[in-house]
Amino acid sequence: MKKFALIIAGVMVVGVAAGYLFLNQMSVGKEINMIDKKVLVAYYSYSGNTKKVAEKIKNITNGDIFEIVPKKAYSKNYDEVVALAREEKQKDVKPELVDNGNVKDYDIIFVGTPVWWYTMASPVRTFLTKNDFTDKTIVPFCTHGGGGASSTYTDMQKLAPDAKVTEGYTSYENSAKDSEITEWINKLKL
Ligand SMILES: Cc1cc2nc3c(=O)[nH]c(=O)nc-3n(C[C@H](O)[C@H](O)[C@H](O)COP(=O)(O)O)c2cc1C
Repeated sequence: MKKFALIIAGVMVVGVAAGYLFLNQMSVGKEINMIDKKVLVAYYSYSGNTKKVAEKIKNITNGDIFEIVPKKAYSKNYDEVVALAREEKQKDVKPELVDNGNVKDYDIIFVGTPVWWYTMASPVRTFLTKNDFTDKTIVPFCTHGGGGASSTYTDMQKLAPDAKVTEGYTSYENSAKDSEITEWINKLKL
């Protein structure tokens, strides 16, 4: 009888352990679920902050990464870029890109940008208008210098009206944290 009870207890311990491992596996991974969905992390970055966030997202999601690069490089002089970007925003300029990218094979497209004059940087405007986002999910993120995301995400939805645009991840300059990014992605239930 004692032996029987021990066997039952053993089976229960193994069952609980297996259940724990299973649940653990499920929660680690939005990444794991997202393997079924094809993920692209597309970003533009002038001075490197947004690039760092893009790389963190790439590592967490196992997605592909695509850098949005304007054909004509922006000046290294910050003040010149600030002035040009203001003009580009006013005139709704969409600068030509080295490569427009192709979102056709992806389900989820993370789109990252620095905030330029309260909205996305001009090259990201080009990327959004040169691709077809029908039935795609755009997961936006941005870095800023103190003013927050401003109109960045609502403007993205306007440029890609056919996409589902989720809640974004907004971080100040170079302050993005892996843990915050993981929490954000898990919360989105992609
Ligand atoms: C042209 C230009 C315009 C900017 N406009 C804003 C703005 O409207 N609001 C804000 O908070 N930061 C603004 N910034 C600061 C950047 O958003 C911030 O430094 C960002 O992290 C830079 O990202 P990056 O290193 O990926 O280029 C601007 C920077 C530049 C160069």
